[in-house]
Amino acid sequence: MKRITIAIDGFSSCGKSTMAKDLAKKLGYVYVDSGAMYRAVTLYAMEHGCFDGLQLNVEKLRNMMQDIHISFQFNPETGKPDTYLNNTHVENQIRNMEVSERVSIVAALDFVRTEMVAQQQAFGKEKGVVMDGRDIGTTVFPDAELKIFLTASPEIRAQRRYEELKAKGQEASFDDILANVKERDYIDQHREVSPLVQAEDAILLDNSNLTIEQQNEWLMKEYLKRVED
Ligand code: DC
Repeated sequence: MKRITIAIDGFSSCGKSTMAKDLAKKLGYVYVDSGAMYRAVTLYAMEHGCFDGLQLNVEKLRNMMQDIHISFQFNPETGKPDTYLNNTHVENQIRNMEVSERVSIVAALDFVRTEMVAQQQAFGKEKGVVMDGRDIGTTVFPDAELKIFLTASPEIRAQRRYEELKAKGQEASFDDILANVKERDYIDQHREVSPLVQAEDAILLDNSNLTIEQQNEWLMKEYLKRVED
């Protein structure tokens, strides 16, 4: 069967990575969580004194970009790749609230995006890749054979993230998470470089009222339509 490129974009905490990871596993494709890469750059910036509260020293980060190396290693326990920053495992740290509050600021920078997009394109050059993010169908892989744009209501997304953090034993307030989800939606949609928009040829899926199984079934049908003709 021919191998294709699958781009899954959409708002934060919509379950894009769950959907992408499950499909990649079934197909034997590579899964790349592009948001994890922006999170890793943000963590590096925080650890190297580029942030004063929420204030970012852009020039300082620009000068450090060549020192930031992001890689992924498959974790058989979770069935998905874990993120490494300069060979250190950072998968849990990059999901905390401090990083979540700052990542949109970092992801809006053109020099960060240029570097991340180049790395993402390299991951997908052999096809057989499922990548999720905000600009995968528009900027990273505009020729992807299958493009999905995922959405769900902000309240449902905040609830999902709240449960995820609690399950990991991390402190979380639902109201803070909801405010963070809404703020990130706004920043992601209004930034100058690669704002979050639905690609013209992407299929819209609102999964507010779908179970993971229903969503996976729907996605598999869409995939089969692309490879069978
Ligand atoms: O999917 P996520 O919540 O882990 O993404 C983290 C942040 O990175 C989010 O604020 C949007 C940004 N992002 C982006 O700008 N482009 C991508 N391709 C993926 C994520």
